[in-house]
Amino acid sequence: MKTFYIETFGCQMNAHDSEKVRGTLLERGYMQVETPDEAELVLYNTCSIRDKAEQKVFNRLQQFKRASGKGKVFGVLGCVAQQEGERIFERAPHVSLVAGSASYTKLPEMLVQLEAGNRRVTGLSLDTDETFDTPFTRRDNPHRAYITIIEGCDKACAYCVVPFTRGPERSRTSDSVMRETRSLAESGYTEVQLLGQNVNSYRDPSPRGWDFSQLLTNAGSVPGIRRVRFTTSHPRDFVKSIIDAIDENPALCNHVHLPVQSGSTSVLARMQRLYSRDEYMRRIEWMKNAKRDIAITTDIIAGFPGESEADFNETLRLADEVEYDSMFIFKYSKRPNTAALQYDDHVPEEEKTRRLMLLQERQRAIQMRRNASYVGKTEEVHVEGFNVATGQWIGRTTQNKTLNFSDAALPAPDEGQTLVGQYADVLVTRAGPNSLTGERVRESCVQ
Ligand code: 5AD
Ligand code: SF4
Repeated sequence: MKTFYIETFGCQMNAHDSEKVRGTLLERGYMQVETPDEAELVLYNTCSIRDKAEQKVFNRLQQFKRASGKGKVFGVLGCVAQQEGERIFERAPHVSLVAGSASYTKLPEMLVQLEAGNRRVTGLSLDTDETFDTPFTRRDNPHRAYITIIEGCDKACAYCVVPFTRGPERSRTSDSVMRETRSLAESGYTEVQLLGQNVNSYRDPSPRGWDFSQLLTNAGSVPGIRRVRFTTSHPRDFVKSIIDAIDENPALCNHVHLPVQSGSTSVLARMQRLYSRDEYMRRIEWMKNAKRDIAITTDIIAGFPGESEADFNETLRLADEVEYDSMFIFKYSKRPNTAALQYDDHVPEEEKTRRLMLLQERQRAIQMRRNASYVGKTEEVHVEGFNVATGQWIGRTTQNKTLNFSDAALPAPDEGQTLVGQYADVLVTRAGPNSLTGERVRESCVQ
């Protein structure tokens, strides 16, 4: 039996791609092992969103340079593979396979070539209409399942490599998405997460022609499915009907990740984001005016070329106005092929760091305040694990907040008894900036 090891970097799309790759390999008779040392085939599913992410794969490959002599086969998959292509063979000659995500449908053929001893196998074509829809997907998480609904991206944000690494947008048919959702529910999944670089521009290619809101509503109506999440959204394509759908269907989680990137309209224009600060704020208003308490999270780039102190202050003000539940902040990183590379007013590294830290500090206080407002409330969590060190169960609320809790009746997993995978009502007793703490309330105690 042939053995493989796979390590995944980057976003949830990549994590899910790895599940598909894993399924394809298991189907071909490969066995997965836990360390690269034990494996004959070592795969890295890579990310190139920022320079640091890209460097990681070359560091990994460097570590194993000598091991390649011992009959190991190395493969680089994902975004760095697509971006660097055959240059990877020059930089790391012990690599035998370089394939981007749009080529995974051809993975079985690529494996045949590798097995036949070909040491320069590539899958780099982006001109595919197919979405990678494999029936062999082997999911890592037994409780929350990723479902791809759209691949690629047709936007042209000035900082972003994704259109180059994942190609043009392709939506899956609603029929295929619904079939997968139903089959996941039948196999016991209660929570699904719809994935795409830009889920809002989903458009069913079949005559039924569903838009994203219709797909959401239908996924949330599948018997057995208790939670539907989605990521990631682009403000330009984010329409009010998505909020209406969330308001009407409790199975749709009340959390929206809506990356703003900057609070300054002029920076947004130079980023080619296709919306102004005001247009973004209108979407925030829809969420704030919704019947349900929708958690809002975002991504920010600190120090985009030309970002002035005044521009950055606009971002600080926006953070105060929106009061995000969570925020991912990144220092701008130069990426190959992107428009912003040509901009000449790059912000010094120390200044990017200063802005990042200022914003982090500001956001920490906001999160502390937001989370404190949950103390005294009872929240339903989907239980994901147990922390032996703290003696607490780890749950997640519909708003995607981590809620660690104790359960007097089941203080720890015990002889086949576990809460993992179940839903529990938890009274929030304490709040920190990044998580909540509470105690499980048994049904008899709920008013
Ligand atoms: N530099 C820094 N951050 C970036 N992101 C995307 N490209 C870059 C870049 N070149 C961030 C954006 C995006 C998140 C996934 O990564 O904020 O929303
Ligand atoms: Fe990284 Fe973007 Fe590729 Fe995801 S799509 S792996 S974030 S570069």
